Amino acid sequence: MTTYQIAPSILSADFARLGEEVRNVVAAGADIIHFDVMDNHYVPNLTIGPLVCQAIRPHVQVPIDVHLMVRPVDRIIPDFAKAGANIITFHPEASDHIDRTLQLIRDSGCKAGLVFNPGTPMHYLNHVMDKIDMILIMSVNPGFGGQSFIAEALKKLAIARRMINESGRDILLEVDGGIKVDNIGAAAEAGADTFVAGSAIFGQPDYKAVIDAMRAELAKVDRAGY
Ligand code: DX5
Ligand code: ZN
Repeated sequence: MTTYQIAPSILSADFARLGEEVRNVVAAGADIIHFDVMDNHYVPNLTIGPLVCQAIRPHVQVPIDVHLMVRPVDRIIPDFAKAGANIITFHPEASDHIDRTLQLIRDSGCKAGLVFNPGTPMHYLNHVMDKIDMILIMSVNPGFGGQSFIAEALKKLAIARRMINESGRDILLEVDGGIKVDNIGAAAEAGADTFVAGSAIFGQPDYKAVIDAMRAELAKVDRAGY
């Protein structure tokens, strides 16, 4: 039986009520808080930083999963670790020294991961699997919530799942972008175990109803024995 985790992205939450939003979404069944950091440089949008991470930290007990869409990467990592992040992922194209950045995250006491854009090849993993705790496959181009799922991501999830199994290591496989109740099952069948969803959850009045519906889809996949 696979342990599936739902990771609501607060990018689509009401930023004026962020403490209440994260409390509500955890009460609704979220396993992880996904925290999107954008710099208007690596991606054409600007969001939130370590101060906001620190501000929401006391509101929830679940892990905070910081998705860095910034360049350069290294300078800001210790700040997020101090702000209470548990997982920090970054895009390999945004770091000149991927191995060093992964090590820096781990030395800061966090789990480390690489993020793959729809057009980014997976070979960046080849020589660093021993330093990876999470692989994040983007199913949209990064920068905005509410975009449509790019189906090619399913193939990349399957490749990543094979690599994880071959490594024998305990590595989370997360998918991010356009995840809804009607496609979460396909992502799970392809190998994902951790599901980011922003607009699908925060765009609805009843967060628990959406998370329950997602879990019902995941239970079907589990019963089918994927
Ligand atoms: C996009 C972000 C996502 C985004 C997902 O760059 O990394 O985490 O919030 O939003 P939805 O689920 O609306 O596609
Ligand atoms: Zn994200």
